[in-house]
Amino acid sequence: MAEALPTCYLNGEFVATDAARISPLDRGFLFGDGVYEVVPCYGGRPLRLESHLERLAAGLEALGIGNPRTGAQWRELFAGLVGKNGGGDLGVYLEVTRGTESGRDFLPAEGTPPTVFGFAWTLAPPDPDQRKHGIKAVTLEDIRWLRCDIKSVALLAAVMLRREAQAQGADEAILVRGGRLAEGSSSCVFVVRDGVIATPPASHERLPSITREVVADSIQSLELGLKEQDIACADLTRADEIWLASSTREVIAVTRLDGQPVGNGTPGPLWGKVHAAFQQLKQRECGA
Ligand code: PDD
Repeated sequence: MAEALPTCYLNGEFVATDAARISPLDRGFLFGDGVYEVVPCYGGRPLRLESHLERLAAGLEALGIGNPRTGAQWRELFAGLVGKNGGGDLGVYLEVTRGTESGRDFLPAEGTPPTVFGFAWTLAPPDPDQRKHGIKAVTLEDIRWLRCDIKSVALLAAVMLRREAQAQGADEAILVRGGRLAEGSSSCVFVVRDGVIATPPASHERLPSITREVVADSIQSLELGLKEQDIACADLTRADEIWLASSTREVIAVTRLDGQPVGNGTPGPLWGKVHAAFQQLKQRECGA
C-alpha cells in the first residue's frame, strides 16, 4: 500500500491529509467523472512533468472540463506537495473531477468549479527480488471501455482485473482485446522477439503511457530500435522477453506468463540494458 504522506493539496490549499474532506456529491465520487495522473519524483524532482501535464490537459479536454490551473500553477502545486512532504523519491497523485453539484444528474451543470486533489507517498525502489527474478503475469480479456486513452478515475474494470490476476497468483494482468495485446491493467507492455523490441501503437485501446516514452528514449540512447506494431496473443507466448512499464514500477521484466516461462524464465539481456539506461536517464533528468 502506498501510504499517503501527511500533507495533501485540496482545492487551493495544502492541508493535513487525514483532515481533507470533499462532498459525497462530488461527481468524481458519484460518476467517476474525472481524470488523474501519477507522477514519479526522484530526488524531489518530477520525471517528465510536462508530458504528464499535457496528458492531463488532453483528458480534461476530452471530458469537457476546463483546465483549472495554468502550467505554472500545476508546477507550483507539485513543488509544494513534494517540498511539504520532505522531497526525495515520491509518487504524486493528482486528481481533477468535474466538481461538486447540488444533487445528482448525469448531465453536468455548467460552471461548477472542478475539484483538484493531490497527495504524495514514498516511492519505494523496485523490489530487488522482482528486479532479479522478474514478475508473473497472466493474460486476461480486456473488459474495459473503448476510451482507455483517457486516464479516467473510473478504474473498476482495472480493479477487477487486478484482483483476478492476484487470484491466479500473478502480479499483473496483461490485457488482450480481439486477440491482440492492449496493455497491462496498470502498465504498458514491450515484447522482444529475435532481438526486436516492439510495443503496440497509440490507440483508444490503451493509455498514452509516459513511462513508455521514457523507455523508448532509453532504447534510443542504446542505439537500439523500437517497433510500434500490433502484437498478437501468439507473439506474447513466443516472446523472448516481456517488459511492463509504469510511473510506479519503472521497467520490469515479466518472467512467467500464464504459468509458463517467458524466454528462459529470467529477466532477459535487453531488459538489463534498457533498465540500466532508464536509471541513467532518471539521473540525467532528475539529478537523482
Ligand atoms: N497507471 N496503462 C494503464 C492502464 C495504467 O494505469 C498505467 C499507469 C499505464 C502506464 O502509464 P504511465 O507510464 O504514464 O504511468 C498504462 C498508474 C501508475 C496508476 O494508475 O497508478
